Amino acid sequence: MSTSQDRADTPEDTAAGTGGDTAAATATAAGPAGAGEPLLEVDNLGKHFPVTQGIVFKRQIGAVKAVDGVSFSVRKGETLGLVGESGCGKTTTGRMIMRLLDSSFGKITFEGRDITGLSQGQMRPLRRDLQMIFQDPYSSLNPRQTVGAIIGAAFKLQGETPQQGTRAAVQELLQLVGLSPEHYNRYPHEFSGGQRQRIGIARTLALKPKLIVADEPVSALDVSVQAQVVNLLEDLQDELGLTYVVIAHDLSVVRHISDRVAVMYLGKIVEVGDRNDLYAKPMHPYTNALLSAVPIPDPAQRAGRERIRLQGDVPSPLDPPPACRFHTRCWKAQDICKQVEPPLVELSPGHQAACHFPENTTVSQTDLVAKAAVSPGASADGAADAPQAQE
Ligand SMILES: Nc1ncnc2c1ncn2[C@@H]1O[C@H](COP(=O)(O)OP(=O)(O)OP(=O)(O)O)[C@@H](O)[C@H]1O
Ligand code: SF4
Ligand SMILES: [Mg+2]
Repeated sequence: MSTSQDRADTPEDTAAGTGGDTAAATATAAGPAGAGEPLLEVDNLGKHFPVTQGIVFKRQIGAVKAVDGVSFSVRKGETLGLVGESGCGKTTTGRMIMRLLDSSFGKITFEGRDITGLSQGQMRPLRRDLQMIFQDPYSSLNPRQTVGAIIGAAFKLQGETPQQGTRAAVQELLQLVGLSPEHYNRYPHEFSGGQRQRIGIARTLALKPKLIVADEPVSALDVSVQAQVVNLLEDLQDELGLTYVVIAHDLSVVRHISDRVAVMYLGKIVEVGDRNDLYAKPMHPYTNALLSAVPIPDPAQRAGRERIRLQGDVPSPLDPPPACRFHTRCWKAQDICKQVEPPLVELSPGHQAACHFPENTTVSQTDLVAKAAVSPGASADGAADAPQAQE
């Protein structure tokens, strides 16, 4: 059994995606009304990796539904955090946004332009605008090159010679990320993990990107260094007006750095909202369970909180549960949850959740049914079948 490789989409792959067996929750997870211009808009984006069998005559026997119809937007200058358990599709989403991986279906709009179908050649001028910071600062830097050569290569790639000369420009960048200009001639192995991540960030900034997707930017670092790198990313955002999508499984990191947070489960966004709102009043049971596992340093606060232990493992994305994908682990699940996919709907300003029985909301079940009925992802049957309010 084998799976497809990145950027090796087959017609079957595309077919698997476009057909889609899901009633995708296509409500756009945008920020509060009246907020700034969206830089990035993602609409019903999905990636199905075909699973094939046979060596000579390969045939598709299934598909890993890594990302299955996610929609969100990111405004200029804001940080959207993307959280969820391992394997829920965070990296795949990030790589599709960067166009490092072709999507199976859906649409990506950057600065108002549809970039979903652009060829690699057409993407080249946009490459400098869209940059990614990777998790592993050890493997993302060439060990045989000096720091000067690594960061300087970014200028070369653009065919650009900085006014003050490449060396001076690289040294300015080193200072910007909290390193010393004297580090110019050193090699990556002479640095700590945190310093290497700073070098990676300096290389990214050389291209003056408009959007940075940071995939677990601090999870490979010591806890003591994590805060320094997170603070650096925030300072750089203030100084340079950067826009971030920060992918992480650590909810404390995401809370610290994000303006809004989107929670993913098994290839879907199940909740999105302003970080304070979402952390204080999670509406989706899955978000609630994730938050209940975050350590609280204050013993008094800790005592008042109940830890929700999720039962069972995350189901396989090869064969995700029907309707609400969380129903196999949800303590609130009822029949409707196994039959009708709950669409992502706005339950308070800027706060959306995909659940038939959301928590921390005053929206009545009747209103929820009405919202579901007008949502593009909801089936008429589903709305009609929706349950009565829970006891
Ligand atoms: N090239 C591929 N071929 C087949 N399946 C893949 C491929 N890349 C990723 N997957 C599968 O897609 C799903 C989502 O993977 P992804 O790496 O996006 O998850 P993630 O949320 O980033 O997880 P983690 O927190 O562990 O980094 C996983 O089940 C993974 O095994
Ligand atoms: S829709 Fe049902 S199963 Fe899904 S999260 Fe809500 S209550 Fe749980
Ligand atoms: Mg990942």
